Amino acid sequence: MTGRNETSATLRARAEVDLDALRGNVRTLRARAGGAALMAVVKSDAYGHGMLPVARAAREAGATWLGTATPHEALALRAAGVPGRIMCWLWTPGDPWREGVEADLDMSVSALWALREVTAAARAAGRPARIHLKADTGLGRNGCQPADWPELVAAALAAEAAGEATVTGLWSHFACADEPGHPSIAAQLDLFHEMVTHAEKEGVRPEVRHIANSAAALTVPASHFDLVRAGIATYGISPSPEIGTSRDLGLRPVMTLAASVALVKRVPGGHGVGYGHQYRTPHATTLGLIPLGYADGVPRHASGRGPVLVDGVRRRVAGRVAMDQFVVDLAGDTPEEGARAVLFGPGDHGEPTAQDWAEAADTIAYEIVTRIGSRVPRVHLNEREARDGQASE
Ligand SMILES: Cc1ncc(COP(=O)(O)O)c(C=O)c1O
Repeated sequence: MTGRNETSATLRARAEVDLDALRGNVRTLRARAGGAALMAVVKSDAYGHGMLPVARAAREAGATWLGTATPHEALALRAAGVPGRIMCWLWTPGDPWREGVEADLDMSVSALWALREVTAAARAAGRPARIHLKADTGLGRNGCQPADWPELVAAALAAEAAGEATVTGLWSHFACADEPGHPSIAAQLDLFHEMVTHAEKEGVRPEVRHIANSAAALTVPASHFDLVRAGIATYGISPSPEIGTSRDLGLRPVMTLAASVALVKRVPGGHGVGYGHQYRTPHATTLGLIPLGYADGVPRHASGRGPVLVDGVRRRVAGRVAMDQFVVDLAGDTPEEGARAVLFGPGDHGEPTAQDWAEAADTIAYEIVTRIGSRVPRVHLNEREARDGQASE
């Protein structure tokens, strides 16, 4: 194992992050993207996988762009010495635009207020800001409405003429790309074409036009344009079961969440287990205590349902998930304390997957991996020594 050393914290529980699997996923996505470049989306601490090691590994495998939500995440990448193109898209008035300009970030602009702030920052920094104009083609979240687009485009062109901005990108985001054939996909693509065409006719010369997330990168080739932004697929997880399993898509889940069994004991039949006694042993049995709880991101909503591989055997959470721990019924087996319990992983040794936990908790696998708490150490496997962040393949 490379990366961090085993400590008593990692003995309790750990999220193992296989950077070779991540590199393989990046290569697969690059191949699927055809001629388009790949942005690895590393927001929210790389969906819980650890932003810096993931960013470096993604670059090693040829992700030429990195994407974050907040400017603070992007600036943290720069502060750690990560070079190359980094885009961030979730800006709030008063955010660090000047630091963004000085750090050479590509910054999303959805509205005139943002253009005003970024151009003021560019004047203060004494150089143009790199901006991507975001079109709301139907998601109804961030982005500029079609009716307001001509005004935003005109203002951006004026900022270019004044030497305060360079429009490096035109972009948008899908609402339902994870539902193959959903009519909004074609409608958003049509509108994106229209809005890009308008901007280009007016004189915008974007370096990259982009709209595809993982689902679109995998299933809608017409959405690839110059760049695809892949988050969840980079981590080896399918955007939705409708699109296929990780294996169907040639992806390998990157994170394995494991813990050491903290206690094994015999109990009589009829014994209540955990808060509220939601589980009662049907007969004399053995119980195993797993030292992970909802503070660590194990969803309480999966109480009584979440699957776990304990010492090689599939079990289920018995009773409620508590803040720091939960219990499994070991059906008379007596694994040693310290035996390995795997909540999820790639699935090739009988362990559940993050998708299994998503189903048990009635949510999506994105939420399962992203919410693993900060108390769980990330142990990065197969980290390379070279730390220059440059693509090496
Ligand atoms: C603007 C934007 N682009 C791309 C992504 C990546 O999406 P996915 O993880 O589905 O690939 C996200 C994540 O939600 C996003 O907010």
